[in-house]
Amino acid sequence: SMDVHHLAGRPVIIGGGIAGLMTALHLAPEPVLLLSRTPLGADASSAWAQGGLAASLGDDDNPALHLADTLTAGDGLCDKETASRILDAGPDAIERLAGFGVRFDRAPEGTFRLGLEAAHSRRRIVHAGGDGSGREIMRALVAAVRSTPTVEVVEGFEARRLAVEDGKIAGVLASGPTGQVFFTTGRAVLATGGIGGLFLDSTNPLGSCGQGLALAARAGAVLANMEFIQFHPTALDGSNRPMTLISEAVRGEGATIVDETGRRFLDGLRGAELAPRDIVARAVWNHLADGHRVFLDVREKPGPAFARQFPTIASACGKAGIDPTRDLLPIRPAQHYHMGGVSVDLAGRTSVPGLWACGEVASTGLHGANRLASNSLTEAVVCARWVAESLASAPARRTKQAVASDCPSPDPTPVRPVLSRALGVVRDGEGLKAAARALLPLAERKGADPAAVGLMIAIAALRRRESRGAHYRMDFPYHATVARRSEITLEAALAAA
Ligand code: SIN
Repeated sequence: SMDVHHLAGRPVIIGGGIAGLMTALHLAPEPVLLLSRTPLGADASSAWAQGGLAASLGDDDNPALHLADTLTAGDGLCDKETASRILDAGPDAIERLAGFGVRFDRAPEGTFRLGLEAAHSRRRIVHAGGDGSGREIMRALVAAVRSTPTVEVVEGFEARRLAVEDGKIAGVLASGPTGQVFFTTGRAVLATGGIGGLFLDSTNPLGSCGQGLALAARAGAVLANMEFIQFHPTALDGSNRPMTLISEAVRGEGATIVDETGRRFLDGLRGAELAPRDIVARAVWNHLADGHRVFLDVREKPGPAFARQFPTIASACGKAGIDPTRDLLPIRPAQHYHMGGVSVDLAGRTSVPGLWACGEVASTGLHGANRLASNSLTEAVVCARWVAESLASAPARRTKQAVASDCPSPDPTPVRPVLSRALGVVRDGEGLKAAARALLPLAERKGADPAAVGLMIAIAALRRRESRGAHYRMDFPYHATVARRSEITLEAALAAA
């Protein structure tokens, strides 16, 4: 059965993480409908963020220093103008979150307690509840949305197709426990998060399967830098899926990475444990491939303060039978974040009129080839405001009832081993070709969205014949002389495979 809802000009936000909630809050009092796949706040990767938000708030800091660190970590691929605009707005974004009731960790005199993470030259990470930052932000924003009457929240419905009419957005087809629902609207915002669910080993909620990328791609949108996938170097190596993240902030407080002989094998790297994330992940990956075991040592630093500073991680260690005051924590890299995404401008506009994107699903150009730690929540909060302003100024178009017919299968199971093998920390042309060959027949099957997303990633990675940031190819180990942003569409990926 199919219910059709005409939204009388209301826009639809797809996704209930920080990007979606902030967009809805900034739109108020303009009426908006927010679709959330799960009950609001459950299973959003935002809620799992340990690291917090990066913003130049310290006395010794300024946006230019934050920008310089971002560009260095991004390995030549950041859009400098975009990065500068977003990072300039960082401190203001923190104040706005505080205004929505987020209780950040502060010193007794009221100033923010600023943490340090890899590749930051200053302490600039704002936290809440130690390592519970995402949970606290989501608590406050969900409460704010629930008490905003102009935001109608529809829970348990997942967007499956965007209807396009004359090249423009005409509606959203969603599927839920009572069947399919079609929402007629000329304005939609993708705020669906990342792709960790397409990998065997990820720190993301399993439900993050690149749904927004598939929706955009099937609507004809251009996607950018899809090959750039961030692997976090310190996931707890155990049987938990998703894997347990051990925040980079733990290394920021002095924890070291050692092997089974006790050797700090990163000490030859510039920055050692706090080198950019792609570099540390690769070094750990290679050391494991050489047959070593790799551990995080928190016994001396942060030492006895560990459990107090990082209560979420300490409790996860306890559940895994590890006592961090005495034991080494076994670690390995795991998929963590997608730098690539739907190509957008600073207002969040995609290449399809009527479609915006915000947060991890979008590619603004801020992150380049390797995202600087804790820049993602900052980006989501800053850009949500600009998306809301742009949406509000876009006229509500009249749309005919155009119903998207096929409703796809969102099963990522066959895609996980393929992407995990070929699109991990280290790649090569042969492996990427094999992945494309395996994904093509799946992607051509009607509505196989995870395979379509995987195929676009594989083709983008195959076309980038260089190594840069998180994209490392054994057969092309050096930088190309010019750093180029890559673009792909689903049509182009299907044709190339
Ligand atoms: C972390 O806490 O290490 C993750 C921070 C991030 O991904 O930005």
